[in-house]
Amino acid sequence: MRPTTAPFPAARLRRVRQSPATRALTRETQLSVDDLIWPVFVRDGDNVLEEIPSMPGVFRRSVDRIVEAAAEAADLGISAICLFPYTDPSLKTADCAEAWNPENLSNRATRAIKAQVPGIAVMTDVALDPYNINGHDGFVVDGEIVNDETVAALVKQALSQAEAGADIIGPSDMMDGRIGAMRDALEEAGHTKVCLMSYSAKYASAFYGPFRDAVGASGALKGDKSTYQMDPANSDEALRCVERDLMEGADMVMVKPGMPYLDVCRRVKDTFGAPTYAYQVSGEYAMIKGAGLNGWIDGEKAMMESLMCFKRAGCDGILTYFAPDVARRLRGQ
Ligand code: PBG
Repeated sequence: MRPTTAPFPAARLRRVRQSPATRALTRETQLSVDDLIWPVFVRDGDNVLEEIPSMPGVFRRSVDRIVEAAAEAADLGISAICLFPYTDPSLKTADCAEAWNPENLSNRATRAIKAQVPGIAVMTDVALDPYNINGHDGFVVDGEIVNDETVAALVKQALSQAEAGADIIGPSDMMDGRIGAMRDALEEAGHTKVCLMSYSAKYASAFYGPFRDAVGASGALKGDKSTYQMDPANSDEALRCVERDLMEGADMVMVKPGMPYLDVCRRVKDTFGAPTYAYQVSGEYAMIKGAGLNGWIDGEKAMMESLMCFKRAGCDGILTYFAPDVARRLRGQ
């Protein structure tokens, strides 16, 4: 649909911009706390809050502090919290067995939140990188990231997360066939209500740097992820990935990173009309936060504008490290 416009001066497009009231009446998109998913980092210990140097204002939290954070998020009306573990290097192995340990950090945090803050949805991450000695999302055999063996391990990891009570499972690994394999295994195990939010169009991006610091994978990572994550030059391929994942049983699909890929968000939403999410990743957070702290931009306004853009691009929700700040701002606090 193309809006039609009369010639000047019948049409003066500034008329509706003249006051807060007319601007509010003609605003096309809204950002609300319902749209927010808050990614958080979990670490071992008691009462630990450890700031991540490349992400000012973002912390690694011990499980007790994660529960506190979840309670605060629920009070603010945030829909979901998404857990990422910082795994002790001594637990990283070539077989990544910690990934499906029922007592691993992610599963312990999930159980604690579900028990104490039942109102917030818990999302978890499926991928081997936090547990892998070489920092890759899959098993490495003779220098190659092997697909099918990795999918078998990811299924075990997803099942352990569903057992722990995860509401939404987010496979971020970019292996082929994982959504179908996880969906079959979840159905078979009776976990028929667990949602799969597929990181369907996940690009091999330089914007993940601070996240890899946060989960302790930066030092471990050998090489890059371009044999499984997507080439930033492609967008038709993103549509194929999304279609494939929807056909395999994904309930929700994601584009990641966010702001540099708004065109992909729009194409995905227009093509499939499925619940579509963007991940405003760690590097995007760091840029906005860092420039704001330096006084180079108005950090708060840039934060709100960046999130509104995702809604305008057709996203139903956003994973963002700004979630609590945004929620407070939306409430006028
Ligand atoms: C890895 C994973 C990454 C992120 C989420 N899950 C990094 C990567 O692919 O190396 C990045 C999130 C962010 O940068 O905020 N499974």
